[in-house]
Amino acid sequence: MSTFNPCGLRGIEFTEFCGPDLDHLESLFWAFGFSKLRRHPEKAIHYFRQNDIHFLLNGERGGHSAEFAKRHGPSISAMGWRCDDAQAALQAAVARGAVAVPAEMKDHPWPAVWGIGESLIYFVETPRAGQPSVYEREFVALERPLIQADKGFKVVDHLTNNVPPGEQQKWAEFYKGIFGFTEVRYFDIQGVKTGLTSYALRSPDGSFCIPINQPKDDKDQIAEYLREYKGPGVQHLAFLTDDILASLDALEGSPIETLDIDPDYYREVFERVPGVREDPARIQRHQVLVDGDEGGYLLQIFTKNLIGPIFIEIIQRADHLGFGEGNFGALFRSLEKDQEKRGVL
Ligand SMILES: [Fe+2]
Repeated sequence: MSTFNPCGLRGIEFTEFCGPDLDHLESLFWAFGFSKLRRHPEKAIHYFRQNDIHFLLNGERGGHSAEFAKRHGPSISAMGWRCDDAQAALQAAVARGAVAVPAEMKDHPWPAVWGIGESLIYFVETPRAGQPSVYEREFVALERPLIQADKGFKVVDHLTNNVPPGEQQKWAEFYKGIFGFTEVRYFDIQGVKTGLTSYALRSPDGSFCIPINQPKDDKDQIAEYLREYKGPGVQHLAFLTDDILASLDALEGSPIETLDIDPDYYREVFERVPGVREDPARIQRHQVLVDGDEGGYLLQIFTKNLIGPIFIEIIQRADHLGFGEGNFGALFRSLEKDQEKRGVL
């Protein structure tokens, strides 16, 4: 383990969801193209997979996720982060200021520390070549698994955290100081009536990012999230796809709705971002957003809120490592319009 990667992180292993309506979450996973494959041998926890995105759905009546669901509603109660050596990762994290979670407060056997908003970060060892996966070890195969063709979603590209005013620095220090994340970008986004600042961090192994959003006042989308979610947490997960238009074709007819984009947006965007190889008509029809510079570009789209106030982003990258900063203004204004319609602004 190096000082740059003190916990030996190797990426995201899983995301764990909980909530009062498990059927809703399960149908959502199905709509996105996840297969339901395994169950915990003793607990009401199911395992879903699409390529290298692994979801756990925790329906336990007691324990951490149950308490989390009572407090937050539909939510993300835990994540598993891959590492070389789980015990060594725990020790390194605690030595750098993280707080270990006692065994009786965890739903899983892996070592864990407290993460954002009382969620847990489990350390899960990356299996060596030829060894069974963590799901093969800890879960049993369903007699009747629900298997479907994937919709092109490969990995979690990034997850974004929302935090209250004044806490951005604290959480940035948490990820930097304990796990060795590094700052990659800082943005200041101004809508018409509201604004936010965002501070993006990259994991020490380079495999995923965590942008942290902080509201500028008590009315904007971040503040609305914090009220509904009852505290800080994950605002969105971004699924990486190699072909966003094919993924969106595959999502057609599903209940997943994406944000409406002003047709004016498409008048300028292909001038602002030259070199886009995908069909502009299909990009506009699917209301995909485009961002980039001379070096490359990205295509992205955002769903409406799906899991309480949590939404999903779908992103395709062509030599571009941003988060769609060029779109944040347009998007922020689209969300403001939606807030105005709902009478929040
Ligand atoms: Fe994002």
